[in-house]
Amino acid sequence: MKLHQLVAAEVEKAFAANGLADNPIILQVAKNHDFGDYQINGVMGAAKKNHQNPRELAQKIADSLQNNTIIATAEVAGPGFINLRLNAEKLSQFIYAALQDDHLGVTRSELPQTAVIDYSSPNLAKEMHVGHLRSSIIGDSLNRILSYLGYQVIAQNHVGDWGTQFGMLVAYLFEQNQNGRADLELTDLERFYRDAKKRFDEDEKFANTAREYVVRLQSGDQDVLKLWQQFVTTSLQHAQSVYELLDLKLAPADVTGESFYNDQLQPTVNELLAKGIAVDSNGAKVVFLDEFKNQDDEPAAFLIQKKDGGFLYASTDLACLRYRINTLHGQRLLYVVDARQSLHFSELFTIARKAGWLPENVEAEHIAFGTMMGKDGKPFKTRSGDTIKLLDLLNEAIARAKTLVASKNPNLSEEEISHIGYVVGIGAVKYADLSKNRTSDYVFDWDSMLSFEGNTAPYLQYAYTRVQSVFRKADSWDSDAIISITQPLEHQLAVELLKFEDVLNSTADTSYPHYLANYLYQIATLFSRFYEACPILKADKNVRASRLQLTRLTGLTLKHGLNLLGIGTLEIM
Ligand code: ARG
Repeated sequence: MKLHQLVAAEVEKAFAANGLADNPIILQVAKNHDFGDYQINGVMGAAKKNHQNPRELAQKIADSLQNNTIIATAEVAGPGFINLRLNAEKLSQFIYAALQDDHLGVTRSELPQTAVIDYSSPNLAKEMHVGHLRSSIIGDSLNRILSYLGYQVIAQNHVGDWGTQFGMLVAYLFEQNQNGRADLELTDLERFYRDAKKRFDEDEKFANTAREYVVRLQSGDQDVLKLWQQFVTTSLQHAQSVYELLDLKLAPADVTGESFYNDQLQPTVNELLAKGIAVDSNGAKVVFLDEFKNQDDEPAAFLIQKKDGGFLYASTDLACLRYRINTLHGQRLLYVVDARQSLHFSELFTIARKAGWLPENVEAEHIAFGTMMGKDGKPFKTRSGDTIKLLDLLNEAIARAKTLVASKNPNLSEEEISHIGYVVGIGAVKYADLSKNRTSDYVFDWDSMLSFEGNTAPYLQYAYTRVQSVFRKADSWDSDAIISITQPLEHQLAVELLKFEDVLNSTADTSYPHYLANYLYQIATLFSRFYEACPILKADKNVRASRLQLTRLTGLTLKHGLNLLGIGTLEIM
């Protein structure tokens, strides 16, 4: 349910009744719950504009809110704020309704929008490393959240599978095939790349072959394409195994790599030339953008075709954007890519708008994120300064979580430890990332992400197991029971639970998964306070049944919410 909207509608009616129909009500969640659930902050502005005394006006509006079915009390405070407390009986009904719905009362949009989400998108020349983590998990969470809200989501894994490096890799693969060693060599992509690069740097003849292979590859030579395919297939299998370990929703069918757009590059460039948007500059094709001035106050140059006829990352992105609109019919295009590419995307979208490829009703958004840092404040690397393979990092997370779980709960079987360790380890890595504002850099720290205290995955997963243990001990309960809210913490927990859809919508609108993460943390914290203050199983029959209902919705909200962040829940841990 859209709680905020519902309350806002009541307040708007009260404003209208006092001749203030067009004034913004400014409804906010209360900061201090001792005073209420929401706060109206718009009266002061309205009073000023309409030359009225703010406190008197506030009192009139509060009076109009008497006998409201949703708002129980409206109290004027300070210079003209109004504190609102919601009607407990209504809250009970809403909680009951949410419990009857397997989607927890969250409405799916009636007009489903198609969102195209570009995420993960590694370069296939090398193995996936930690630098690919953020795009993969942020994109996956957005995929889950938008789908939950009824969007039609098309995931696109824009892998780097084209360009000059592939000439070198394919030439090396050809050599290894001749030596009968290709299968062996491809088991370690990282080493394969290093060895190919070494050959390239040391042997002029090999380097020339490599260059020749690039040309043959891009002009569609069947023999070279076959080798290229062999390399790409192996590399994609590696990526897919990482996705499975991470439990991402990305499937092989979501891969539409750079190579896919090869045929469209020249026509795309030609069209920009024909439209007069791109020009010839010493043989190269360039779009000059007045909107993006460089240091010397000259328009920025967006290169789309090199002098030698070669294309670039940027050319591919132009062709790709057209495909996402014309063929995939995307209405919202999300690019979950490192913040260092911000200028590229601003320029790309500007050009696409000018060319008329990106219509006004389609949003194109760069979902930028910062860098994962080590504790030393530098980008996260191994001790010797090498990039960390993503697979190694994830396996370490699982290993650490297993040790932790085994030490906390020595009675678990080997099999249980394995499963719990996996869910906690992967959850911890994801949550540490998703709970922070994506636009900032963050410090990757094993101890804090695996802590059972504070805003962490283990804390939330543990809160969920506590809910489950209440139900194991309860042995029977009435899933149809009426909820009655009398205690302040019951009230606060109920209001918070009913904000689930509001939070999902603001997360979806802004593409900030930390809004959802922080909400779940709030739910877990409130539940634990409620659990301390309000005995559940020892309470009298009706109270017990009612508190079990609140507990049940808490568990379901945590489970659905964590799942939307791509994080698993457990019965015990
Ligand atoms: N492969 C690129 C990289 O590793 C990211 C691609 C992002 N998507 C895009 N459409 N440009 O930097």
